[in-house]
Amino acid sequence: VGVLVAAVGGGFAWLWTSADVSTVGKVSFDHRLAAPPLAESTVGKDGTRVFDLRMQAGEKEFEDGRRTPTWGFNGDYLGPTLRAKRGEKVAVRIANGLGEASTVHWHGMHLPAAMDGGPHQMVEPGGTWTPRWTIDQPASTLWYHPHPHGATEKHVQRGLAGMFLLDDEKSAALDLPDEYGVNDMPVIVQDVRFDGAKFDHGHGLMQNTGFLGDRTMVNGTLDPYMEVGDELVRLRLLNASTARVYDFGFSDGRAFALIGTDGGLLEAPARMDRLQLSPGERAEIVVRMKPGERTVLRSFPQDNYGDAWQRRFGGGDDSFDVLELRAKQSLRDSPELPSQLGELEVPDGTDSAKERFFGLEMSGINGRPMDMGRIDEVVTRGTAETWTVRNDDGMPHNFHVHDVQFRVLEVDGERPPPELRGAKDTVFVPGGTTVKLAMRFDGPADPDTPYMYHCHLLYHEDGGMMGQFVVVEKGQRAGTPAGSESGH
Ligand code: C2O
Ligand code: CU
Repeated sequence: VGVLVAAVGGGFAWLWTSADVSTVGKVSFDHRLAAPPLAESTVGKDGTRVFDLRMQAGEKEFEDGRRTPTWGFNGDYLGPTLRAKRGEKVAVRIANGLGEASTVHWHGMHLPAAMDGGPHQMVEPGGTWTPRWTIDQPASTLWYHPHPHGATEKHVQRGLAGMFLLDDEKSAALDLPDEYGVNDMPVIVQDVRFDGAKFDHGHGLMQNTGFLGDRTMVNGTLDPYMEVGDELVRLRLLNASTARVYDFGFSDGRAFALIGTDGGLLEAPARMDRLQLSPGERAEIVVRMKPGERTVLRSFPQDNYGDAWQRRFGGGDDSFDVLELRAKQSLRDSPELPSQLGELEVPDGTDSAKERFFGLEMSGINGRPMDMGRIDEVVTRGTAETWTVRNDDGMPHNFHVHDVQFRVLEVDGERPPPELRGAKDTVFVPGGTTVKLAMRFDGPADPDTPYMYHCHLLYHEDGGMMGQFVVVEKGQRAGTPAGSESGH
């Protein structure tokens, strides 16, 4: 492993050359991909679907004979897949079995701020918390993960993350592959590095992107292959890495159909052969397989990543083999993909009541590092807004907004590419780029409890690249955030 030392920002940092993490062709694909189990739930008398999630420490044998200390929900690593329908009331009983405080945030979920699981809803060790809300958004692939201010990278990296799938009547009526774990597969992609049996969470790079591992895992499986038994297989991709951006495609260049983005199904499938996902983003794709053939889901080098330095040392030049698909010798017939899928429930920018601007820098958003006691933005319930977000320091960043799904109106003044035309809650904003987003805040109003917006490269988020907004009734003022004394 080649390392070199360079002066960065007045100090010294260990740099790994990008050649060290380029693993194409070296992946053995000898572990069968496991789907996270579906979470059990009970439905109470009032119709509330109740789940239990316990954060706990454990050990997992990612490779034979090496027991790695991990964290997980209801198990050693990652968490079960929660699943609920639009209109359903849900409650999640969370227990913290860790030795330190954490939170559980519902990424992509529209819900009251007090149920959001952000840094103001800390659960102490041995403590419990039971958020309740009504699912009020389209079928989609959401996820959950901790959000303690200053420690999110560490908590996610140790294994605290899981999927939360939403269904609705329209999605159920569509002829899409929907057998969970068979032809409808969660693909939770993370990068890792091992130091003997243990995870190595050290930032090997120039300390500005965050952690970049030298191997990838899917659903906690190293070197994974998936046996495909249908002509069409649906992959629900989630970039659950803390800093790494992937540009997915297949080793043989085959095209696939993009059917959904962060917030749900597209209006129509979009055919493509590359799909970039930054941390926190999701995409649902459908891949066609022929009997007996194999292909590899790979992440390719990325040229829209900033300057040559960022590409090389920030991970933009790296490539990874992620998952091998192995079609059986005989495949079940699949119906053709529907030509129409869903309706986008995100505003188109024409009815925006207000415009706001966000300048992204590693040191903070709009020049201010996160302060849990400060409300940065106050929005009025029931109104749409246009948010312009610009990368001001040339490092890779993205932008995630809690509570809402947005439409990307423009990327650098142009119509966005197909993968950014659906409902989104997180968008990559590479060096030098400006994106324009339209979103609607449907409440409920709570002037005292903020939602977050932030860069989802977790090292940046932890370091203060985050701000807070409250939703208020017209004319109402922002209050004082509860729990702000627990800030760093
Ligand atoms: Cu996925 Cu504020 O988080
Ligand atoms: Cu960032």
